[in-house]
Amino acid sequence: MNIYILGIESSCDDTSAAVLFGNKILANVIANQSVHEKYGGVVPELASRAHQQNIIPVVDTALKTAGISKTDLGAIAFTRGPGLLGSLLVGTSFAKSFALGLDIPLVEVDHMQAHILAHFIQNEAGNKPMPQFPFLCLTISGGHTQIVLVKDHMRMEVIGKTIDDAAGEAFDKAAKIMGLPYPGGPVIDKLAKEGDPNRFFFPKPRIPDLDFSFSGLKTSFLYFLRDELKTNDNFIQENMNDLAASMQQTIISILMEKLTKAANQTGVNQIAIAGGVSANSEMRKQLTDAGAQNGWDVFIPEFQFTTDNAAMIAIAGYYKYLKKEFASLDVTPYARGSF
Ligand code: KG4
Ligand code: ZN
Repeated sequence: MNIYILGIESSCDDTSAAVLFGNKILANVIANQSVHEKYGGVVPELASRAHQQNIIPVVDTALKTAGISKTDLGAIAFTRGPGLLGSLLVGTSFAKSFALGLDIPLVEVDHMQAHILAHFIQNEAGNKPMPQFPFLCLTISGGHTQIVLVKDHMRMEVIGKTIDDAAGEAFDKAAKIMGLPYPGGPVIDKLAKEGDPNRFFFPKPRIPDLDFSFSGLKTSFLYFLRDELKTNDNFIQENMNDLAASMQQTIISILMEKLTKAANQTGVNQIAIAGGVSANSEMRKQLTDAGAQNGWDVFIPEFQFTTDNAAMIAIAGYYKYLKKEFASLDVTPYARGSF
């Protein structure tokens, strides 16, 4: 069905608005919040204020980029949760009032489902290959690490998850320990390209089933550096690239081991990744290699759909719209929990 859908994403520190026509992307505008860099992490109060400042210009730019007017919109989809409550409230309130003002349906979207459904955003040429159901998606972000069995656009089962930190958090915390800015994932990715991933060894956790744990890895990294710094003040500066590469390799091998186990257990050979950490160049390479080795069809999101974006909210909204799953105007955001 060809309708224009506006997506709104404001769950963490990116304010984003996107316009889709059917499942095709017309605009995906993201305003990052640099205000958090110097704090080494997202400051919720500052994030809410920045969303409040960004939301109208971002929506305006998305509509202009798509070349449509607000009266062309057929529905508004927004992130209901999970995320920071104050941040979610900005997007939720904006979406409600815009839908009410335009007298069009409002659609609530789960952020984690949306990361997965980003694989169904069609390109301009209309020739992007999409995963077949059922497929497995490793969703790796700053707040979550999940292996999801995706049965259809709306039916998803979490078959593995982290019991403590998320994979993105492991990148961010390692970067912080090394004195690098937030978010640490992209910085480590860049440094690791020049480093030796086998130079340092960090033990991997032994967690049963398909679950993950990253907090022990962070602690062993911290203690290792603390010990080395006792004899060499410049240890981090002198070994930055190798530290980044070794840490990155440990995180990726934890992720790949569980993903391979999930594929073997379920017999599913359609394998996707999603979320901010799926932007990682080494992760993308190792998944592609594993796909070739194991006979999997591998789905890696376009770079702009890896970290938080509203295009993924709009596509999730599109599938709910088709099922006429609309939200009422008294809908409230949720900080935790998911599908
Ligand atoms: O999906 P996302 O934008 O937000 C959440 O839903 O959490 O993910 C953000 C996370 C951050 O932890 C960030 O460091 C990580 O994704 N990230 C990366 C890369 N780009 C972003 N991690 C590793 N390598 C990257 N290139
Ligand atoms: Zn996210």
